[in-house]
Amino acid sequence: MDRQERLIYLDNAATVFPKPEGVLGKMMDTYRSLGVSPGRGGYDLSMMAADLVMDVREHLCRFFGSDDPERVAFAANASDALNLLIQGLIEPGCHVVSSRLEHNSVLRPLHHFQSLGLLTCDLVKFDERGRIDPGDIARAIKPATRMVIINHASNVTGTIQDARAIGRVCRDHDVPLILDCAQSAGLVPIRMREWGVSAIAFTGHKSLLGPSGIGGLVLTGDLDIRTTRFGGTGVDSESLVHTRSYPHRLETGTLNVLGIIGLGAGLEYVEDIGVDAIRTKEVALAQRMAQGLSEISSVRMHGPLDWDDRLAVLMTNVRNMMPEDVGAILDGDYGIAVRTGLHCAPLAHRDLKTFPLGGVRFSIGPFNTIDDVDAAVSAMAEIGKNK
Ligand SMILES: Cc1ncc(COP(=O)(O)O)c(C=O)c1O
Repeated sequence: MDRQERLIYLDNAATVFPKPEGVLGKMMDTYRSLGVSPGRGGYDLSMMAADLVMDVREHLCRFFGSDDPERVAFAANASDALNLLIQGLIEPGCHVVSSRLEHNSVLRPLHHFQSLGLLTCDLVKFDERGRIDPGDIARAIKPATRMVIINHASNVTGTIQDARAIGRVCRDHDVPLILDCAQSAGLVPIRMREWGVSAIAFTGHKSLLGPSGIGGLVLTGDLDIRTTRFGGTGVDSESLVHTRSYPHRLETGTLNVLGIIGLGAGLEYVEDIGVDAIRTKEVALAQRMAQGLSEISSVRMHGPLDWDDRLAVLMTNVRNMMPEDVGAILDGDYGIAVRTGLHCAPLAHRDLKTFPLGGVRFSIGPFNTIDDVDAAVSAMAEIGKNK
């Protein structure tokens, strides 16, 4: 058996692996016949590729409960989309509300523009289970607040925030709510219109089961994003001013057609099984694993106790051991892949008192089995013995 065959992959919050065979097959088949520049030429094949891209925009728009497929813009991943959203919304002197639970893909752009003196920022706290109080968001909003930007589900604690309640607060204060759905998309039903969410960022390679290199943003009709990148769009080519209409306003250059095909195929796969069914399966495995880990006295777990509002992410620490050593032993001795360290969320780890070493994160995906989680529990029992 080769190393990959016996690998127990429990790093699905980083990227879901492997991808469904059907997604990979569809990518190759469709790209082989349609891999031209969509909509850039008047010939049939280019128009067919443009139709395919539009189909995926429409699919994403429905999937996220929004209303205008033209306001679905593709980007490289969630980080790229969050940059587009943040840069395209801020104005000199504005204020942003975010949280200490955020990923660096939100914290770093905010920090960058704050260091240039362009914005001020309040980061609301979370409780020991990773929950953000919508009341704290209400209290942080000021007249100059340009946006509230919050991660829908944490890659550290697995906590799913009450986006509907946060949306209500934002609507009451007339401030756009932006959700970072990198972790939640494909695992939690998302209803942008219904919840009062003005924009989301998503990534294709996690629970949407597509490839890496594709992600994007979805805007509802009440929010406009300034263009911050300029270039060819295939329309208005006579003008030196970048195209104002959506989605071109936010997209430059040739689209990632292969990625879009894969994302569309991933979405179909997710919808065939069902978002709730996928999370129910993952959470059942996580619950079993949490039960096993709770019987090991040297292992500490973080995150909510209630499984209704969390993803199958288990952030742990072993007493008297460095997380990276635990990860190395899991990999080297047991063939178990996990993510150790700060998970690109340094402030979350600070507040959980796990900074600067971080923790050992097990994240369960759609293709994990009972045997996988049982193997992880027995490996942790051996590693944690006498610690
Ligand atoms: C909460 C959260 N936001 C944003 C990202 C960034 O996603 P990507 O690496 O696909 O840009 C991640 C990735 O781990 C994440 O967990």
